[in-house]
Amino acid sequence: MQYIKTEKHPQDGIAVIYLNRPEALNALNTELMEELSSQIVEYDQDEEVRCIVLTGSEKVFAAGADIKQMAGKGAVDMLIIDQFTKWDKIKRCKKPLIAGVSGYALGGGCELVMHCDMVVASETAQFGQPEIKIGVMPGAGGTQRLTRAIGKVRAMEMVLTGKFITAYEALQFGLINKVVPVEIYLQETLKLARQVASMPPLAVRLAKEAVLKSFETSLEEGLIFERKNFYLLFASEDQKEGMNAFIEKRQPQWKGK
Ligand code: CAA
Repeated sequence: MQYIKTEKHPQDGIAVIYLNRPEALNALNTELMEELSSQIVEYDQDEEVRCIVLTGSEKVFAAGADIKQMAGKGAVDMLIIDQFTKWDKIKRCKKPLIAGVSGYALGGGCELVMHCDMVVASETAQFGQPEIKIGVMPGAGGTQRLTRAIGKVRAMEMVLTGKFITAYEALQFGLINKVVPVEIYLQETLKLARQVASMPPLAVRLAKEAVLKSFETSLEEGLIFERKNFYLLFASEDQKEGMNAFIEKRQPQWKGK
């Protein structure tokens, strides 16, 4: 791997992916996105991993798609390269993805954060969709996921002016889960990941699927989907274990079955 670093902690059921292209502020070139999406697919299939953390460095999460790689391209080149199909692999990840963000999360960087299920940010984090300033617009979900997350008028302001928001604004707007001092942002992200990884994996998977479904369906369809996933979990050993452990006042032992 040239542009990402990885770390697996099987004892905690978590894996960490570090975006690692510091010379370009972790700009997301096609090679980095290939490595990242393939790694996520690999961890998604790895039984030792129950939750995946995605992070950058203290200085930067990611400053967006690689402008230098895109600058000379025409529309047909972009269509043929179709760089955003790689992102679909991330979207399809069944395991929880948690972003740990410090410094810039801009353009594709902010969109990558929004592909994650939860976000812990350092006080230095800044989020933005500045594509408008370079003559384009968000292309990896920025107009859709940002609007759903923070509402129309705030999304419009960010997308149409390129304005950055601080970690505390992002928290207030509902884009992220928490803001912590920069020294402990990774520690706090891993703590949250361990917490999720300690939950019954099948229930986590079906619950994530149901929450994400809410972005794509009517309430009525979403409720039917949720109910079916709920009933389905009664086919699992973990449902019996979880409920019996509660009744017997002991800690459950999850099997992921
Ligand atoms: N693509 C390619 N290279 C980038 C980059 C990017 N998105 N962002 C930063 N870099 C490179 C710079 O060119 C520079 O390289 P050199 O040293 O070779 O010149 C290096 O990273 C350091 O960057 P700066 O000198 O600019 O650092 P700074 O601290 O002065 O500024 C910044 C930081 C405000 C993040 C600024 O770099 C910046 O505005 N970057 C671009 C942000 C942006 O427009 N992102 C959107 C990209 S388009 C997109 O993402 C489309 C989509 O929807 C997927």
